[in-house]
Amino acid sequence: MRVAVLGATGYTGLVLLRLLADHPDVEDIVPVSTSQPGAPVSEVDHGLSPAIAAKLASTGGKLATMDEARRLAEKPGIDVVFSALPHLKSAEACAPFLGASVVIDLSADFRFADAAAFATVYGHAHPRPDLLPRAVYGLAEWHTDRIRRADIIANPGCYPTATLLPLLPLARAGLVDGTVVVNAISGISGAGKKERFDLLFCERTENAGAYNPGRVHRHAPEIEGELQAARASLSLLFTPHLAPIKRGMCVTTVVRLAGNPPAEGPGSVGALLAAAYEGRPFVRLTGSRVPQTRDTWGSNRCDIGWHREGDSLLLFSAIDNLVKGASGQAVQNMNLRFGLDEAAGLPLNGQL
Ligand SMILES: NC(=O)c1ccc[n+]([C@@H]2O[C@H](COP(=O)([O-])OP(=O)(O)OC[C@H]3O[C@@H](n4cnc5c(N)ncnc54)[C@H](OP(=O)(O)O)[C@@H]3O)[C@@H](O)[C@H]2O)c1
Repeated sequence: MRVAVLGATGYTGLVLLRLLADHPDVEDIVPVSTSQPGAPVSEVDHGLSPAIAAKLASTGGKLATMDEARRLAEKPGIDVVFSALPHLKSAEACAPFLGASVVIDLSADFRFADAAAFATVYGHAHPRPDLLPRAVYGLAEWHTDRIRRADIIANPGCYPTATLLPLLPLARAGLVDGTVVVNAISGISGAGKKERFDLLFCERTENAGAYNPGRVHRHAPEIEGELQAARASLSLLFTPHLAPIKRGMCVTTVVRLAGNPPAEGPGSVGALLAAAYEGRPFVRLTGSRVPQTRDTWGSNRCDIGWHREGDSLLLFSAIDNLVKGASGQAVQNMNLRFGLDEAAGLPLNGQL
């Protein structure tokens, strides 16, 4: 397969290059950059294995311009275009590839089916509302069949991925009701590579706290939309936090249990989660052991634990925001879309 990566020098773009370099079904990678076209890929990321050179033949080992990528998409063809561009930039950049290539977009541009909802959340009219009906929400474990047929796959946000995976099986089974309270912690790379005063080392080190609480964070409506598609009566109280770690995300979700499920056996929380994720390589159930960010660091896994207190349930989940929360899930979606092994080229083991 030949694949392109738009925004190749950003954090998720670089993680995509590293994953695709090791992917057994990817033969050629076209890395595209607006800020550094023509730069040798080996100079942009010194952490890449020199072995990637064999997969950069169509650009001579260099970062390509958008025009060069479009020409390659026409001939000899590009199977998948990953976009790791910012929202409001991505949809326009992806549009010319449609028809020739499958688009997997890591930005928020295709995550809302409704252009008006997007405009409310992102404060700007949707750049390409005409394309929204072609997009499928790419939460890999939940929209698998639609992902297999999609032209445009909207990779979910990192907070939505970590929050929805433990919740959806229980919401669909009618086990949770009312307000879902979500407290989440993210590493700083969740904000991308951009220069921002509040992301400086001295501002973030030895410092942690909540930000954009309630409906202010743009991922809240994304989570709530998927939750309400599973169970209309659910609402969300979402509080994200930043911690002084480079990458990783952990989420604690508190729900009121409905229907008095048994503590163990058929119909219990554990049984429902196990049934939902049976045979899926990237969800690991840890039971009463609370997962931590380091358990999933560098891997495409989401680890899920839980603890029951009377009729309240605490759900715990951990992912790597740059892998299962972004580039890894994007590759997982490519694997599903092209009928490859779902786990091809994706790390299951975390790194120390
Ligand atoms: N970081 C995460 O944990 C995470 C998780 C899930 C989803 N996402 C989403 O994935 C996308 C990429 O995120 P990221 O963290 O990789 O961001 P990033 O580190 O800021 O990289 C974005 C890249 O996009 C390119 N770009 C093109 N036009 C740009 C413009 N006008 N302004 C800024 N950058 C521009 C740049 O690469 P070139 O110069 O090479 O073109 C830039 O390095 C975003 O939409 C983000 O919301 C991120």
